[in-house]
Amino acid sequence: MTTTKTRKVTLINGDGIGPEVVDATRKVLEAVKAPLEFEYKEAGSEVANKYGTNLPDDTVESVLRNGCGLKGPTATGIGVGQQSANVGLRKRLELFASLRPVKSVPGVKTRYENVDLVVVRENTEDLYAGIEHIVVPGVVESLKIITEKASTRICQFAFEYAVKHDRKKVSAVHKANIMKLSDGLFLDCFRKVARGFPQIKSEEVIVDNLCMQLVRNPERYDVMVMENLYGDIISDLCSGLVGGLGVVPGANIGHSTAVFEAVHGTAPDIAGQGLANPTALLMSSVMMLDWMEEPVLARRLENAVWKVFGEGKVITRDLGGTANTAEFTKAIIGALA
Ligand code: NAI
Repeated sequence: MTTTKTRKVTLINGDGIGPEVVDATRKVLEAVKAPLEFEYKEAGSEVANKYGTNLPDDTVESVLRNGCGLKGPTATGIGVGQQSANVGLRKRLELFASLRPVKSVPGVKTRYENVDLVVVRENTEDLYAGIEHIVVPGVVESLKIITEKASTRICQFAFEYAVKHDRKKVSAVHKANIMKLSDGLFLDCFRKVARGFPQIKSEEVIVDNLCMQLVRNPERYDVMVMENLYGDIISDLCSGLVGGLGVVPGANIGHSTAVFEAVHGTAPDIAGQGLANPTALLMSSVMMLDWMEEPVLARRLENAVWKVFGEGKVITRDLGGTANTAEFTKAIIGALA
């Protein structure tokens, strides 16, 4: 179903190359005449000095109100300190599912040709609950929290995604041979949910074995569902199979709210130089249009990206070309059918 109603989207520039890739994506969305109105809001380490927080309430409220955000990367320091703006957004908006489709890009040379995977990552618990304490000096405990509710919800999401997108198989990724209670609970939930989807093949794979299998034969896999930490690592591994972080989109999805963002970070080494590759955020906006039930616009944008890559003339430096962000953006707009 295609709607023509204008929808408000919260646009968050973020840090580093964030403003550059957000600007490029907004220009392309305007060129494709997506019925969107943008509400700019702030988040990230740059604004933390201004507001005393990297995630102002006003930003969270805007995404809640609009139901949808498009976000550039935000920087997070290593070590004890403030929670990352991303983790904050996911928690406060209950964006429980991280969705990362990883697909070979035509014209981008990698070791593999037909990668077409989907990583579904649980976003709200596991070691990312951030429950850590010093037991005695020199000994730190970090708690891995796994619940039946969150595990069932993410497995249900993965199977529903598989049905909706005509996928054939869902693999549960775990380490239940060692973490018998926590990952064992995740697997139990997966098995129960899988029974409700007899048309979708289901299988279980241990996470270390999966890493080996993915780099040898990524075609073996389809949709993969997993806890938070495994998902963080596996999604970056998968992006390496198709040309790296610059081309892989992502979304954090809740019951009625979603935030779309690239997998990559703020790329401080090239920030402000106009060299960033905006493909990942552009493809995230394709996911956003699909989520908004605007498939015609989504395919137009996606086809333009594929066309520019297929021609191989205007490619950014991270992928071996010479184009800057502005030249690449212009090429995408020119390729819109
Ligand atoms: P990064 O993804 O920013 O950079 C890794 C390498 O990839 C760099 O050489 C960078 O130049 C390159 N790269 C990344 N995206 C690119 C793009 N679109 N075009 C061209 N080259 C690109 O990862 P790093 O250095 O580990 O993280 C930097 C900061 O980003 C950290 O503060 C981290 O916390 C944050 N970060 C934020 C994320 C988010 O907001 N979703 C996700 C990942 C990291």
